[in-house]
Order: sequence, then structure tokens, then C-alpha cells
Amino acid sequence: MLDKVKEFINEVSAFNSNSKEEIEAFRIKYLGSKGLLKGLFAEFKNVDPKQKKEFGQALNTLKTTAEKKVETLNNALEGNGEQKSFYGDLSRPAEPIELGARHPISIVKNQIIDVFSRIGFTISEGPEIEDDWHNFTALNLPEYHPARDMQDTFFVEKHKNVEKDMLLRTHTSSVQIRYMENNKPPIRTISPGRVFRNEDISARSHCIFHQVEGLYIDTDVSFADLKQTLIYFTKEMFGKSKIRLRPSYFPFTEPSAEVDIYWGLKTETDYKITKGTGWLEIMGCGMVDPNVLKNTKIDPEKYSGFAFGMGIERIAMLLYQIPDIRMLFENDIRFLEQFKSVI
Ligand code: DAH
Repeated sequence: MLDKVKEFINEVSAFNSNSKEEIEAFRIKYLGSKGLLKGLFAEFKNVDPKQKKEFGQALNTLKTTAEKKVETLNNALEGNGEQKSFYGDLSRPAEPIELGARHPISIVKNQIIDVFSRIGFTISEGPEIEDDWHNFTALNLPEYHPARDMQDTFFVEKHKNVEKDMLLRTHTSSVQIRYMENNKPPIRTISPGRVFRNEDISARSHCIFHQVEGLYIDTDVSFADLKQTLIYFTKEMFGKSKIRLRPSYFPFTEPSAEVDIYWGLKTETDYKITKGTGWLEIMGCGMVDPNVLKNTKIDPEKYSGFAFGMGIERIAMLLYQIPDIRMLFENDIRFLEQFKSVI
């Protein structure tokens, strides 16, 4: 009796068909209300008690094998019937591909890089956690120099038996120093990056923001070269080439200037953002101080150069009329999605 059941199990396992009728006949033969299994279960009471356990287990195996067989064969059949090819239904409309948007900071950064690459500037980067030398001292800002107060600093380690004070860089001017230490003139490079200042967060300022630093060192570089470069930049970037340079002070440049561009007074927004003057401040610049060249082992008798630095957030806010700097850091999808059309 047990052997018979085992034979059935083999038979069921070996069964294969892709005909609906054959599979149904198979189901009725084994699992139907008058099927083989029904009969075998009825025999159960006549089995020798010693064999009951083994016989019961074999019957159950037969039953589940038969059920599974019917199910798999029927599934395969359905799949064949409705053009479910290996690749699925090729006539179905495709899933829409969700397009992301570049962040406005990246858009503006890439535009600036693009404009300066066209006139031969390379791109350089430096660390965000910086030492005192690269962020301050080498830039002609020795310890206790009052100009250090211009930039409230996040210190990582300060005066704690450490070799050097470590801090979060307050500007990308630190990359100038690293670049000059590691490259010989002629130098033409821009350094985009994230900077940090210990400032209260408001609609106008944030403790984290981005800057692009520019540096040009060669023989006979003059202030006129700086001015022409700035005119080229503002024309390419904003489509406006009227600029003015206001005398200013930065420890690392001499002379130093602040660059304003003439934005115009055509619309109400123009009035608002320029406070009714038509002029907008966009960056700081100047001729690299001879002390800075000396600090990086570049001979100031032989070489001169200019540098400039601008805030990316400020430019992005101008170009896209973003009223609050915090919007650039919150990653609200409703804000970011609006930049989908910009490359
Ligand atoms: N580092 C200055 C700042 O963070 C910006 C700056 C001004 C950079 C003048 C320069 C420069 O290279 O020449 O405010």
C-alpha cells in the first residue's frame, strides 16, 4: 500500500502538460471528489497501526505535491496565454521617468565655473576643516589682528595644547594659499566651496554658505587686468557690463575694492533689491598683497596678481529672486522643483 502511494508521488512529480484539459483531468484524477486521494484516505483506517504514521505522511506529501503541480502548471499556462513574454508586455506604456532638478547653488556654481573656464581658469578645491595658517595667518591676518573679527569663526580646536588651531574655513581664500604653496606662477584658478561663519541665521545670512574665490598670478599683472576680467565676468554671467569699483579693505589685497554692478531701475524689484540706487554689490577683490606672495614663497619682485571672492547664495538669490536664504538649505521639494527647466 505504501509503495503504491510512493509510486503515485513519483508519477505526480513527473507529470507535465501545457494543455488546460490535461491538467484538469490530472486534477480530477488525484484531487477530485471521487479522486485517488479520497480513496487512499478512506483506506487509512485499514492500515496496520505500526505503518499508520508513515502512511499518513506519504499521503500528505502526495496531496501537497499534486496541489502544487496543478497550481504551477496552471500559472505557466496563464502566462503563455496572455503574451507575457520574457520582458513582460512590451505594448504597455512605459513608466514615466521622474526628472530631478539641480540645486540653484549648483546651477550658479556651474555657470561661474563655465564663464571662468572659457578664459583659462582651472578649478581648485581645499579642505573645509582648515588650519589657522591657511585661513588667516598666511592671508596677512596674524593672530590678534583686528580684521579677524570681520569673520566670526567656528573653532574646532583652539589653544588646547594642539600644534595648530583648527577651524571651519570662514572663506575660500584659504584655497588661494594652498594653491600658491603647491603651484608655480602663472596661476589662474577659481575655487568654489562651502564656508562657515558663527552668525545668526536670518533671511539674509546663514552660518553655512558658498563662495567662489578667484586668483590670477603672473608677471606684470595690473589692476586693469582685474577690471577687464570682472567686466567679462559680469557681462557673461548677468548680461550687464556696467560695473564700479569702490575702495575697500581686505588684509590679503592691496589695494582692495568692492565690486558693484549696475542692475538698473526698470522694475519694482530692481528698486527693492538695489535699495533705489540701481547698484548691487557682488564681490570683493584686489591686488594680492606682497606679504601673501611672500608667505607662499612667490617672489613679489617678480610676480603680481589679483584675487576676488563672491558669495554664491547672493548671486543665486539675485538671479532667481529668492527672498530668503534659508530656502536654499531647507530642501523643500516645492522650491527645488522650480529649477527643473534650468540646466
Ligand atoms: N574672503 C573675502 C570674504 O570672505 C572675500 C574676498 C575679498 C576674497 C577680496 C578675495 C578678495 O580674494 O581679493 O569676505
